[in-house]
Amino acid sequence: MKIGIIVYSNTGNTFSVSEMLKEELENSGNVVNIERILIENNKEADLKKIVITNSPNVSQYDLIIFASPVNAFTLAAAFKAYLNNLPSLINKKVLCFVTMFFPFKCLGGNRAINFMKNSALAKDGEVLDTDIINWSKKNRQQQIINLIQKFNSCIKQLK
Ligand SMILES: Cc1cc2nc3c(=O)[nH]c(=O)nc-3n(C[C@H](O)[C@H](O)[C@H](O)COP(=O)(O)O)c2cc1C
Repeated sequence: MKIGIIVYSNTGNTFSVSEMLKEELENSGNVVNIERILIENNKEADLKKIVITNSPNVSQYDLIIFASPVNAFTLAAAFKAYLNNLPSLINKKVLCFVTMFFPFKCLGGNRAINFMKNSALAKDGEVLDTDIINWSKKNRQQQIINLIQKFNSCIKQLK
């Protein structure tokens, strides 16, 4: 299966999870590319002022994994801007995850993942599963292992 991990990452947390996920999915026989969303000013938080300098094209992928940090109790504005400009996801499977600092998903994680999921659904993508990593929790490594196992077995079931 050809998989694209589409990631926005400001300080590297979400990117590091994406790299671990890529390795595991490749070990399971998939072809996996990580593609980064890049914006002009990484600190820009105003959706209207975001200028995307790299907007990954998802047309070549059977399955897309969206990955972003939570910012200001919602999905990072850079990822929102990317989703706003996304073409149809018809016939594409989608998995989503976000990383956040706080230990409780209600402090932005749920809102962010729902935004991501609903945007993919609105573009006719088939959302298979989602996950949230709470970065400051002691069991962060275990959360990451669980996410990777969950997504990997979800993809295996499609074959
Ligand atoms: C401007 C800004 C706003 C943030 N807002 C939140 C927030 O509302 N809730 C939260 O849990 N973490 C928040 N964080 C923390 C990030 O979501 C967290 O560190 C994430 O793992 C960073 O991912 P990245 O390294 O891929 O950019 C914020 C970070 C920044 C820089």
